[in-house]
Amino acid sequence: MIKSTLLKAVHAGAEQLQNYFGKKFTISHKEGINNLVTEADHASEKAIIETIKKDFPAHIILGEESGEIISSSDIKWIVDPIDGTVNFAHGIPLCCVSIAVEKQGEIFMGAVYNPLLNELFFAEKGFGATLNENKISVSDQTQVIKSCLVTGFPYTYLDMPNGPLNVFEKLIRQGIPVRRLGSAAIDLCWVAAGRFDGFYEHKLEAWDSAAGYLIVEEAGGKVTDFEGNKFSPYQPHILATNGKIHDELRSYVDKNNF
Ligand code: IPD
Ligand code: CA
Ligand code: CA
Repeated sequence: MIKSTLLKAVHAGAEQLQNYFGKKFTISHKEGINNLVTEADHASEKAIIETIKKDFPAHIILGEESGEIISSSDIKWIVDPIDGTVNFAHGIPLCCVSIAVEKQGEIFMGAVYNPLLNELFFAEKGFGATLNENKISVSDQTQVIKSCLVTGFPYTYLDMPNGPLNVFEKLIRQGIPVRRLGSAAIDLCWVAAGRFDGFYEHKLEAWDSAAGYLIVEEAGGKVTDFEGNKFSPYQPHILATNGKIHDELRSYVDKNNF
C-alpha cells in the first residue's frame, strides 16, 4: 500500500511539472536571488500532500515548501516537490520529484521521477533499485582518476577551507571530469545507475537526499558523510559512490586534508 501511494504521489507531483514546464509561471525568491521557488513547486507539493493524506491521513509529512505536518505516527514522508527548480525555471529538463518514506528514523522506500526524461527511479530497502522497473547497479570503476563525478554548489559557504570550491579545484586540477547537473536527487540516481562513479555535496537538506540515498545503497553503492559515518539526511554533507572509490574520494573531501 505504501509503495502504491508513493508511486501515485510522485506521478501527481510530476503531472504538475509537465503542466508548467516551458510555460509562463510565477517565480519568487527564497534567501538568495537565485534560490527560486515557482508556482509549479507549490502545485506539485499540494498534489503530493493530498495524495498521501488521502491514503494515510495520520502520517507525518515533511515538505520543502510547507514544512512539517506533525502527528504521532512513526512514518514520515519526506517530499521535494521539484528538485532542480533553477533548471525547471530555465526550461532545462533536469528536474524531478523526490519522495522518501521513513519509519522510526530509517528511510525504507524512495522514488525519484523526472517526467521530462520519463525516468522513474525506485528503491525499497532490501529489494534493490530500479529505473523504469529494470534493476540498476552502480559502476565498477576502482580509481578516482578514471572516474566521472558529479557535485552541486550551495548559494553560500563556498569558501570554507574544505569547501565546495576547494574540493572542486583539487579534482579539476587533476583532469577529473566533475559535472554539475543542478539536481541532487538526479545526481544520486545517476550514481545508482552507474552513469556517475561518485557524487559529493556540502550542504543538502533532507528532502534533497533522502530518496536518492536509499536508491544508491540499494543499487550496491555506498553513502556516508565526509567522515565516513553512516549517512543521515538530517546533516548537510553527502558522499555517495559505487563503493569502490569511496575511501579514495573521501580523502578529497576530508577536512583534515586541507
Ligand atoms: C537544489 C538542488 C541542487 C543543490 C541545491 C538544492 P532545489 O534543490 O538539489 O542540486 O545543489 O543545494 O537546494 O532547490 O532545486 O529543490
Ligand atoms: Ca531540492
Ligand atoms: Ca525543491
